[in-house]
Amino acid sequence: MSVKPIKLGWFLGNSFGVHGWSQPWAGTGPRDWWQPDLHVDLARALERACFDFMLLEDSLFVPDNYGNSMEFYLSRALRAPKNDPLPLVPLLVQATQRLGIVPTISTSFYPPYLLARLMATLDLMSRGRVGCNFVTSTAERAAQNFGLDAHIEHDLRYEMADEFVDLVKQLWDSWDADAIVMDEKKGVFVDHNKVHPIDFKGRFFSSRGPLNTARPAQGHPVLVQAGNSPQGQAFASKHMDIVLCAVSTAAEMKAYRASLREKVAAAGRDPDSCKVLYVVMPTVGETDAEAAERVKRRQAAKEKAPEMALAQMGSLTDIDFSVFDIDAPIAELTTNGQQGTLKRFLKQGKTLREIAANYRYGYEDLVGTPDTIARQMGELMEEVGGDGFMFTGTVTRRYVAEITDGIVPALQKRGLSRTAYAHEHFRDNLLAD
Ligand SMILES: Cc1cc2nc3c(=O)[nH]c(=O)nc-3n(C[C@H](O)[C@H](O)[C@H](O)COP(=O)(O)O)c2cc1C
Repeated sequence: MSVKPIKLGWFLGNSFGVHGWSQPWAGTGPRDWWQPDLHVDLARALERACFDFMLLEDSLFVPDNYGNSMEFYLSRALRAPKNDPLPLVPLLVQATQRLGIVPTISTSFYPPYLLARLMATLDLMSRGRVGCNFVTSTAERAAQNFGLDAHIEHDLRYEMADEFVDLVKQLWDSWDADAIVMDEKKGVFVDHNKVHPIDFKGRFFSSRGPLNTARPAQGHPVLVQAGNSPQGQAFASKHMDIVLCAVSTAAEMKAYRASLREKVAAAGRDPDSCKVLYVVMPTVGETDAEAAERVKRRQAAKEKAPEMALAQMGSLTDIDFSVFDIDAPIAELTTNGQQGTLKRFLKQGKTLREIAANYRYGYEDLVGTPDTIARQMGELMEEVGGDGFMFTGTVTRRYVAEITDGIVPALQKRGLSRTAYAHEHFRDNLLAD
């Protein structure tokens, strides 16, 4: 391969929840949403296409932001119901051999010791194939589910997250890599000199350590984050192996990457050790014209139901957009939820109707046959400078096949993505050229 392989991930929004409710091609997805079958099929398809990883989104509340009621969300299975994604991880690991599996964890509500132990266990069990998507949890309702009256302030959440990850890393390091000696002659399973208390005393968390399981197979599982605000980006640049970026133009991707790489370097790290992946939602057709027709139909549906985008965005930003005049210019709004996301949303138009019509969760201009899209992806990557893409969209087995059995083989033919995994560990494959 003369060019660097494009890194490939799948962002599974709505995670272990309902996929494709009342949509054609949904199959058993909505009916059997609480069973792991669709997720296992997805993982196998991603591995067939040599993806780097599959990320399981998560949230910890039933939204009621739109119209101050749960009705809009629950009647459409929008963001709820949703199972805990962690029990899926061993099943997905078992069904694959090389694919990275990345569950989401809240640094605001998960105890760091339990998280360090959980991820160490999963990394050992999977022989080095898991990662962790760190989120601060952005919803007031989530905070209330954990006993708070109001959520912790946005920037303070990131200060906590930073300390959380510092602590978790120290717990993973509390066992030397060669601590398990299994010396039968001396009667020593673990050399106790190689297991160290950490006596961590921070502003928010304390832990004596050591961990009561061994060092993870990768040392540290792969660390992932998607902060978009200045505080989010600072957190990401200090710790993360992968940063996710949801923007809708090549210029925004380029600017995000340049800014993040600068921050990674300023944090004393090699910018190439932190991969930036952009969220994309392609539209595939048998012909380019057919794909363009699908885009037109989707756009018409979006314009017919602007409340879908407004409700979705409301649940990410804790704002009830139903109270505003949809055709009046929208004022500057602030949030203690996803600040970076709100800023980007409001830039997409002057009125809420315009914004909803232009709503893009990521980059949606990959349109055409698999080969056309592979070419577009190659051009986009060249323009942006690296590193890869996170596919997302409503999961049906048809949509997955369009990508894993259509677009990716076309990328592979062009030498743009790998045709085999070179390494056993998730991070080694991620960093390999
Ligand atoms: C691709 C992607 C995946 C994300 N996954 C989650 C998730 O699973 N759970 C969650 O609470 N937030 C998730 N987020 C939100 C981010 O963690 C973050 O809050 C958001 O990008 C806004 O940035 P800020 O927190 O710096 O304001 C995701 C964001 C992106 C772009």
